[in-house]
Amino acid sequence: MHLAALLTVLAAPVLVAAGAAHPVGTVPATWDGQCAYPRPQQGFKASRYVGPQPDGDSRAVWYQLAAQDQPFSSDCRCVNASYGSFRNGTVTVENRCVRGETSSGIKGVAPPAAPEFGAGAFRVDFGARSTNTAEGCQGPNYIVQKAYYNKPGEKLCTKAKGRRQYETVIVSSDNFDGWFVLSRTRNVEQRVVEEYIKEVAALGNPLTKPYSITDQSNCPAVP
Ligand SMILES: *[C@@H]1O[C@H](CO)[C@@H](O)[C@H](O)[C@H]1NC(C)=O
Ligand SMILES: *[C@@H]1O[C@H](CO)[C@@H](O)[C@H](O)[C@H]1NC(C)=O
Repeated sequence: MHLAALLTVLAAPVLVAAGAAHPVGTVPATWDGQCAYPRPQQGFKASRYVGPQPDGDSRAVWYQLAAQDQPFSSDCRCVNASYGSFRNGTVTVENRCVRGETSSGIKGVAPPAAPEFGAGAFRVDFGARSTNTAEGCQGPNYIVQKAYYNKPGEKLCTKAKGRRQYETVIVSSDNFDGWFVLSRTRNVEQRVVEEYIKEVAALGNPLTKPYSITDQSNCPAVP
């Protein structure tokens, strides 16, 4: 890929959200000649998002509130992700969920993407197992598009105002082909989750593809 050829463009996923009528405007994206990548949250700081160590209790735990449906997570409830980091900035990822009565997990790594894509853009790799990457895209497949400091239910706020960590994030993928909402809070009222889904649409992610609010009830106790 020729990084010099990267252009910041206005991608226009001119789609109108299904269900609710949230017209989608033009949103900033980076184009590498093949794919469009959403721009990450301005001023993104990984330390406000992930834990300081690759393993163990210091990792940050995030609960999925809603997501575009994906084959690899079909029938999954109680979805969460634990994020740690190596000193070199590579993030460690462990996704967990419950299918039926069975809890399962998958581990991966997410090195930061080239600086041209902005801080907050990563390329998650689960090894041989399926990774959510659009066909032919070589750039980041995990972009923290928006990071909120407010607790769910409070007024949406992307300015720190003395707070030290993000509480809820919207993550999008290459070509805007997949999104999810994560929060440090596991149980969030549906009305509040829907407020974040409106933001997902405003950020250029088409709600015309099926999506679901994640079931976070009756989940296994934290060990
Ligand atoms: C960062 O460090 C980890 C652990 O040593 C290593 O596995 C990984 O490949 C490194 N990533 C990069 C991009 O150098
Ligand atoms: C994450 O989810 C798994 C299965 O869905 C569950 O067993 C585990 O307790 C959860 N972790 C936390 C910290 O909530």
